[in-house]
Amino acid sequence: MVKMLNFALVGCGRIAKRHSELLGHGQIQGAQLVAVCDLIEAKAKKIGEQFSVPYFIDMHQMMQSEKVDVVVVLTESGNHAKNVVDLAKYGKHIVVEKPMALTLNDADAMIQACDRNGAKLFVVKQNRFNVPVVKLREALEQGRFGKLVLGTVRVRWCRPQDYYDQAPWRGTWAMDGGVLTNQASHHIDMLEWMMGDVESVFARSTTALAEIEAEDTAVVTIKFRSGALGVIEATTATRPKDLEGSISVLGEGGTVEIAGFAVNNMKTWSFVESMPGDEGVMERCSVNPPNVYGFGHQAYYEYVVDCISNNGPHLVDGLVGRKSLELINAIYESIETGREVHLRFRPKYCKLGGTF
Ligand SMILES: NC(=O)c1ccc[n+]([C@@H]2O[C@H](COP(=O)([O-])OP(=O)(O)OC[C@H]3O[C@@H](n4cnc5c(N)ncnc54)[C@H](O)[C@@H]3O)[C@@H](O)[C@H]2O)c1
Repeated sequence: MVKMLNFALVGCGRIAKRHSELLGHGQIQGAQLVAVCDLIEAKAKKIGEQFSVPYFIDMHQMMQSEKVDVVVVLTESGNHAKNVVDLAKYGKHIVVEKPMALTLNDADAMIQACDRNGAKLFVVKQNRFNVPVVKLREALEQGRFGKLVLGTVRVRWCRPQDYYDQAPWRGTWAMDGGVLTNQASHHIDMLEWMMGDVESVFARSTTALAEIEAEDTAVVTIKFRSGALGVIEATTATRPKDLEGSISVLGEGGTVEIAGFAVNNMKTWSFVESMPGDEGVMERCSVNPPNVYGFGHQAYYEYVVDCISNNGPHLVDGLVGRKSLELINAIYESIETGREVHLRFRPKYCKLGGTF
């Protein structure tokens, strides 16, 4: 019989709804929700009672009194590092929401703490598991694009001021960052995953409509080590509603474009050399999710369970999370200096994480 993994949540805010519904409603085979925790008792109580599991206001008390196999960190981005390092000592596996941390030093501390305590660290990157995204990756691995030419991601979402006003940490340098770190971090990760390692970036940003410290709008040009170029366009200042979350990859062998508002709609699947099964890909691989988070959290949790229970491949670990954080830090470094920034580098002017 397959062992049931016991999951506990730390942080019962907005995104906890998605996690608790999947784990608490038995939608992930081999996983169940056993406890939840939030510093604000009313929030913990609400989710705890909804799924009939014990709730706590202290994560250490939860870890000491409940049988937890995997703890899921859903706190504010700027608290992830502290929470993960504190939790690692229990030697349980840890899932942390994106972005894993805001500074590279924090990301390193998290990876080290988990390694030392034999805990697997998973960073939530649910869009990698979207059906059309998996299909695009498959085409890349099959070499169907040949020489890569251009990769583009666009995030044109709507986050009105009341979204930012929901909590004081949103849009701050110390705890969140702007559209690049929060909303577009999925797409930036995906672009690098598809196009390969980055050689350098050049970026500009502005805070167009939101009253926040960090940017709500940014454009980035990228030079990949393969010689291909890339573009990131990201904004939460689209009005009046979400328009697009997309990726396109162009190579000498063909073009793939995934659009929709949550990278969910296979818009173009066009190759110089066609293969059996190409016809129908656009219909088969387009699924409309209920919101911008997409369906990916379900597939993501299935992967986490497979990785832990069956020793399946660890696809999105701390090192993968660190890699896209390094790229985001480099983009901010370019915004601050007005210069092209070459990776590998150590941030000097990047404001993310409130260090500088
Ligand atoms: N994967 C996605 O698509 C996605 C979507 C939304 C948010 N997120 C990420 O999820 C994280 C949380 O975002 P949110 O919108 O749910 O924030 P939120 O402010 O709604 O919730 C955070 C909660 O964590 C609690 N908390 C803080 N420290 C704690 C501690 N030590 N112990 C217990 N509880 C603690 C807070 O009281 C708060 O209720 C962020 O990092 C965000 O970037 C990811």
